[in-house]
Amino acid sequence: MAKEIKTIGVLTSGGDAPGMNAAIRAVVRKSIANGLKVKGIKKGYQGLLNEEIVDMEAKNVSDTIQRGGTILGTARSTEFRTEEGQQKAAEICKAHGIDGVVVIGGDGSYRGAQKLAEHGINTVGIPGTIDLDITCTDYTIGFDTAINTAMQAIDKVRDTSSSHERCSIIEVMGRNAGYIALWCGVANGAEDILLPEKYDYDEQRIINNIINNRKRGKTHHIIINAEGIGHSTSMARRIEAATGIETRATILGYMQRGGSPTCKDRFYASMMGAYAADILYEGKTNRVVGYQHGEFMDFDIDEALAMQKDIPEYQYQVSRILSL
Ligand code: ADP
Ligand code: F6P
Repeated sequence: MAKEIKTIGVLTSGGDAPGMNAAIRAVVRKSIANGLKVKGIKKGYQGLLNEEIVDMEAKNVSDTIQRGGTILGTARSTEFRTEEGQQKAAEICKAHGIDGVVVIGGDGSYRGAQKLAEHGINTVGIPGTIDLDITCTDYTIGFDTAINTAMQAIDKVRDTSSSHERCSIIEVMGRNAGYIALWCGVANGAEDILLPEKYDYDEQRIINNIINNRKRGKTHHIIINAEGIGHSTSMARRIEAATGIETRATILGYMQRGGSPTCKDRFYASMMGAYAADILYEGKTNRVVGYQHGEFMDFDIDEALAMQKDIPEYQYQVSRILSL
């Protein structure tokens, strides 16, 4: 028989993402509507280990849906990676009467949720990362805001790049995943898009592309480079030396993680937060919320973590053709 859930906790973990507050708000308000008590756990698993736990009422999440970052704070915890840390975290949950926890974060945070579930605390994960690199879902909270922030910044760089007839390398976030680079590359009409999943380190091909485009009369050349490839500044120096065309690197960095979430991020985060609250209330555990083919659904965390996801080949091929 499913464990009866009376009180739940909610935490954000790993890298923050715009829309996390909308998810927290939905978890809190839907759980209260379900008749549960809600506690906010500050600063992820580390805050749990430090017992940074506060009561959450509906009013505590008022005026937060439009705010970037996470009102609960986030952290990475090495202590929680240990068996002792996980045991201690589960005991702290029990001492505070917390029967289940909603974990908003990336797949590292899901592994933490898996461990907490093994120690008798029901858990449900919500995909919160700007990287879109969670396998079981077509949507992750924060991606939409991040790509729009990056797209607007890249448009601005393009203006000055065209005026000076320069080449621009613009580095976007994504240590292991090229989704931000792919989407911005297409949306910003970049001439070259470098994805960690696909890049062959053939810099001569890029150099030839720049020279050919210049001969065809193009006054700019935008290269979107993903963080996972990196080295944009040294790449710019090499390209300038090889082409004779002034080349500048711009690393967009953490601005992509901040800012007010888009409507899409607020909406999806709200639905996912409510969904997570509902399945936790039903007594489900070791689950993660996903969105596929127009539907919200949930998966076993073990199965979700075993799934594979790659850059869709058709999207990649189209991005190359359109950048010609
Ligand atoms: P993200 O959730 O964005 O992928 P991390 O990979 O940094 O971010 O994970 C966030 C936190 O989740 C880590 O700091 C750690 O406390 C916890 N965590 C990650 N992997 C594990 C694991 N294998 N076992 C237990 N906890 C983990
Ligand atoms: O996962 C989101 C992300 O912003 C990645 O794109 C990036 O590689 C990483 O987090 C940076 O993490 P940190 O905050 O530890 O520098």
